Amino acid sequence: MISSRALRVPASPIRRLVPFADKAKKKGIHVYHLNIGQPDIETPSEWYKYIEKFKNKVVAYTHSQGILPLREKFAEYYRKWNIEVMPDEIIVTNGGSEAIMFALGVVCDPEDEVIVIEPFYANYAGFAAYLNVKLVPVTATPENGYRMPKKSDFEKVITPKTKAILFSNPSNPTGVVYTREEIQTIVEIAKENDLVIISDEVYREFAFDNKNSISAFEFNEIHDRLIIVDSVSKRYSACGARIGTFITKNKNFYSAALKLAQARLSPAEITQYGTIGLLNSSEEYMKKVMKEYEKRRDVAYEEIKKIPGVIAHKPEGAFYLSAKLPVDNAENFIKWMLSKFNVDGKTTMVAPLSGFYATPNFGLKEIRIAYVLDSEKIKDAIKIMAKGIEEYNKQKN
Ligand SMILES: Cc1ncc(COP(=O)(O)O)c(C=O)c1O
Repeated sequence: MISSRALRVPASPIRRLVPFADKAKKKGIHVYHLNIGQPDIETPSEWYKYIEKFKNKVVAYTHSQGILPLREKFAEYYRKWNIEVMPDEIIVTNGGSEAIMFALGVVCDPEDEVIVIEPFYANYAGFAAYLNVKLVPVTATPENGYRMPKKSDFEKVITPKTKAILFSNPSNPTGVVYTREEIQTIVEIAKENDLVIISDEVYREFAFDNKNSISAFEFNEIHDRLIIVDSVSKRYSACGARIGTFITKNKNFYSAALKLAQARLSPAEITQYGTIGLLNSSEEYMKKVMKEYEKRRDVAYEEIKKIPGVIAHKPEGAFYLSAKLPVDNAENFIKWMLSKFNVDGKTTMVAPLSGFYATPNFGLKEIRIAYVLDSEKIKDAIKIMAKGIEEYNKQKN
């Protein structure tokens, strides 16, 4: 009764272990959630101002590509990032998630291949499985700070079925912010092999140490083969708005994606208005948020570095840190932390990184930390994890 497609779609590694956390909470244990990218930062107040202003007598469908005032506002925002796109080159989507679906749906036939840099944002695997698209990984290693793999590593996996390269920059889950040279590698491969670039830039602002993240859009020569995926979820701490964008200058991609958008009718009307508010929020808000994340990044990295045997590099962006732990199996360790271990009634939940790899049995000792709690909590949570590692290994030996 169930399709092979539905069976193929993997459970999210970020949410899969939630029942273990629920059980711990039932026992009265406090769980620090460093497993999911749900920020605790307040959404800009402009969101509420715009939502309150919404007094239409009927909550209606909108144009499938989203309301024009919002697309105009997005175009204005992108201009500040030197991404010169017109409102009719933007489709408002139900989160970046739907933009990823549209991008894969527009570019790939069933059984086509898309190259991803693993570890990658785990839900790419879910969308690909749903569309019967094969993700072909090129591996970035913790030992190498998860930097961009070499050009030859990409070239080795290209086949006649390869249609696109999909990657996030800044990267979820590694926190790497790719340099111009690293993106140049992708650009060259795409040009030389006639591939589409799907550049997921939902963490655009989240680049630390006074660095700017570089959009793939900065490479003019690939505009006809570029789709940008974007979202307000992380930027404005507005994950529940479910508003993202699909951006392309390629008219064929745009009209194909618009047909997919028409099939789902429209994004929610009211949250599109709220998003105009988000895009009107002050630059001070963003500066404050970035400062806060940078502080958390520093705390998370300082603490994790203290754990003997851990391999971790200082993340440069997004709000994630990936690390290799000195344990036999990270997923078993996380389950153990949730079911068998606590310090003064508190324990820590992180995400196992194996689900962010397409290669079976890769990333088995790695984890992802989302530093979405305040610094004191992050410090405590990682200290608890450090004690957990010690105890877990004692029990194993
Ligand atoms: C890299 C990346 N892309 C896309 C998304 C999708 O986010 P949303 O659908 O909330 O916009 C996420 C969410 O975690 C993400 O980390």
